[in-house]
Amino acid sequence: MNAEVHPDIEEVLITAQEIEDKISGLAKLITEAYRDKDLLLVGVLKGAFVFMADLAREIQLPVEFDFMAVSSYGSSTKSSGVVRILKDLDYEITGRHVLLVEDIIDSGLTISYLLRYLEARGPESLEICSLFWKKGEQAVPLDVRYPGFEIPPVFVVGYGLDYAEKYRNLPYIGVLKPSAYDAEVP
Ligand code: IMP
Ligand code: MG
Repeated sequence: MNAEVHPDIEEVLITAQEIEDKISGLAKLITEAYRDKDLLLVGVLKGAFVFMADLAREIQLPVEFDFMAVSSYGSSTKSSGVVRILKDLDYEITGRHVLLVEDIIDSGLTISYLLRYLEARGPESLEICSLFWKKGEQAVPLDVRYPGFEIPPVFVVGYGLDYAEKYRNLPYIGVLKPSAYDAEVP
């Protein structure tokens, strides 16, 4: 079942199988940690939707879901530092055990903003699970309780992550060929 690599991809950094194995490990940790608690997963759209779906199905506990949509990049590959909330939570999180599910942490600006925002609503606990982490790129230290892969500070796509809204459905994580960027109108 070795699907062909997309022609815009220069290199596959992490395979679908490696992602699957990592998620199963993360889900075990989360299942243990929240065994006697009501767990609310808060996914950060759009990037985390693929990860959230796979992670949730590996967690052996009843969980509830909510989503926030934020925009931090537009269509470029560098953080603007400005986080816009496009969709807020549907439910109150006061007194809840909240696990924030992110696709990737780069500068850490998005997740730091969300942490402050959610903390102000008085959750019983608030932790971060991020599948990818460009560790060392953060200006301020971040406590990521459930980190997936540490990756180098390169721009990656696939498994929910996009470049200008494309490539989210690739089952692996890859680096784009320079020609894929050149195609963009500045
Ligand atoms: P940060 O605020 O710099 O930590 O960026 C976090 C957000 O930027 C993530 O939720 C992603 O949507 C996006 N992002 C960061 N790095 C990448 C990448 O390598 N590829 C695609 N999107 C990324
Ligand atoms: Mg994005």
